[in-house]
Amino acid sequence: MKTIETIHALRTALKSRCQGTIGFVPTMGYLHQGHLSLVERAKQECDTVVMSIFVNPLQFGPGEDLDRYPRDLKRDQALAEAAGVDFLFHPSVSEMYPTEPLTQVHVEKVTERLCGASRPGHFAGVATVVTKLFHIVAPDRAYFGMKDAQQVAVIEQMVHDLHFPVTIVPCPTVREPDGLALSSRNVYLSPEEREQALVINRTLREVEQKWTQGHFTSADELAQFVRERIQTAPLADIDYAEVLTYPRLEKPGAAWKEQRLIVAVAVRFGKTRLIDNVLLDGR
Ligand code: PAJ
Repeated sequence: MKTIETIHALRTALKSRCQGTIGFVPTMGYLHQGHLSLVERAKQECDTVVMSIFVNPLQFGPGEDLDRYPRDLKRDQALAEAAGVDFLFHPSVSEMYPTEPLTQVHVEKVTERLCGASRPGHFAGVATVVTKLFHIVAPDRAYFGMKDAQQVAVIEQMVHDLHFPVTIVPCPTVREPDGLALSSRNVYLSPEEREQALVINRTLREVEQKWTQGHFTSADELAQFVRERIQTAPLADIDYAEVLTYPRLEKPGAAWKEQRLIVAVAVRFGKTRLIDNVLLDGR
């Protein structure tokens, strides 16, 4: 595996490689099995696998965890290499943003709710950096985790609207054996918070089961059930718990049971904000 820090060097390396397809896995590092599952899928489907590690300042709001976002390049390099990454792109902030960017990509509507509402500017930061990375790497396929389901919806909409020549491949959420969705931010959790955070997955699994059994009479009732269940954990502070259509992320209408729905939650445990979701497909 080659670690590359400049745009020019990466473009040159990718140009001079043998022919074939490029699979791309963009990340912010502090790799875990969730990231590595994307690499695994990319390896199955593409000839060359590029991973980026870049903690993108543009997608963090004031007061968010940009400065304390966990980083460990040495460890990440070892994990990426063992997983079969061919090129690890690890640019500096000044390489990616040499001057103040006056151009940003704003995706409308699908960015209005959920994390888009709680984190103003976040998805413009994501869409902008992913656009830049797509222009640098020129991948045939790019791999994203469904743990960030709204991010997948935003990127798919952007790729569709702007005719990016890339196929977006959404991949399933990888969980700890006890159900907690893997996240680089899990390292922030105290043992007590970590224990109570299990309420999220427990609730989503319960919802899935009850929904299959026809338990809920409306999307609002379902959302209320989620809130009540999560609030049973004393340390849980709910940012949002919503039921929307997927991927448009709109309020479901009367025919809510015949639509593809997402139950999406963001919950704070102490200083750590965790997100998770489940898709319910009534079609
Ligand atoms: P990051 O949070 O590092 O995540 C990188 C990729 O790994 C994303 O596609 C994310 O959905 C996926 N991922 C994270 N946890 C996962 C899990 N438990 N199971 C499966 N996939 C998981 O998302 C970002 O970085 C950034 O916003 C980025 C797209 C790199 C743009 O800066």
